[in-house]
Amino acid sequence: MNDFDQLIDRRNSHSTKWDKYAGRDILPFWIADMDFAAPAFIRDALYARLDHPIIGYTKPPATLTEAFQGWLQHHYQWSIPEEWVVWLPGVVPGMNMAARCLGLEEKVMIPTPVYYPFLEIADNVQRQDVRVPLALDQGRWQMDLEHMQTLVDGVKMVSIANPQNPTGRAYSLAELQALADFIERNDLILVSDEIHCNIVLAEDSQHLPVAQWLPDIAHRTISLFAATKTYNIPGLGCAAAVIPDADLRAQFQAQEAGLVPGIGPLNLVASEAAFNDRSDWLNQLLGQLRANAENLATVAGTRMTKVEATYLAWINIADLGLNDVEAHFESHGLGISDGAQFGHPDYIRFNFACPDAMLNQGLERLARALSN
Ligand SMILES: Cc1ncc(COP(=O)(O)O)c(C=O)c1O
Repeated sequence: MNDFDQLIDRRNSHSTKWDKYAGRDILPFWIADMDFAAPAFIRDALYARLDHPIIGYTKPPATLTEAFQGWLQHHYQWSIPEEWVVWLPGVVPGMNMAARCLGLEEKVMIPTPVYYPFLEIADNVQRQDVRVPLALDQGRWQMDLEHMQTLVDGVKMVSIANPQNPTGRAYSLAELQALADFIERNDLILVSDEIHCNIVLAEDSQHLPVAQWLPDIAHRTISLFAATKTYNIPGLGCAAAVIPDADLRAQFQAQEAGLVPGIGPLNLVASEAAFNDRSDWLNQLLGQLRANAENLATVAGTRMTKVEATYLAWINIADLGLNDVEAHFESHGLGISDGAQFGHPDYIRFNFACPDAMLNQGLERLARALSN
């Protein structure tokens, strides 16, 4: 089993997270990978693959799709046919491919704040986006469907992160049903990025895959899944698009042409091992993350809304009146993400997926940074 307390030196591993601050006394709590070792059973599967010395072009094997179907069944009691699944080298290519299905005049609506690649989609695919802020209601960030309705003219697609990055919301069934009504009423397609689906921290929340829980609009959905967050293997990109409608699926697949590379054989092996996992690994990870979220909340207090899902906290810093948010936190030895990147200044996103010793040191610094 993993030792989630072990501090692993990631310097000199070309880590995006750690290299940003190489040579400076700044602890990185920004990009969304975890400072925990990937589980041994995944690394063993990789070593076993390397026993074969040829690393050629490789197709996603049927065993990968079976593993993914088994994983959906195991975690969500959801059974899907294999035809619904389109394999991709990452979730981000999938969300861009989805938007390329739009006509040139059709717009994509994006509730914000959101993981910053959503905000790049419109430019990438030369369409327009319509950004609608989430509303903070009784300490919970929620989709503002009334506001969305006023801006829906010309919109054909809504792209959401579910669970939500960076606010840590796990949308409830009532919220998703209200969204489904909006989608149906306005004849839209829903793209749901469910990469954080396993990382639900709140005991009273659960992940609700939209295509499972909103059957009336399942034919209008493109859902994006991956095992790479849960098992901390984001460097081995591999994602599954689940698209129940055959025409929409064909349209989506046609966008791949010439732009999206195949998936590397090591990536395939790692994700298959992850989807086949039935060990206690995820439970243990969630235990560590829940404790870390509580620990962080003791310092961030009411600045931070409850993290229902993900290992990312969204923290209000409006009162600090900062001109350069990153520079302020860096001067206190912290690398965080500026909320402006996600579409909302006055916030920071703090990634708390790390061993206690690192988090505790970070929290001492955070307490000072928030009081200065
Ligand atoms: C909501 C969300 N979607 C997608 C990704 C990245 O997915 P991929 O690396 O498979 O493109 C992340 C990574 O942080 C994320 O938080």
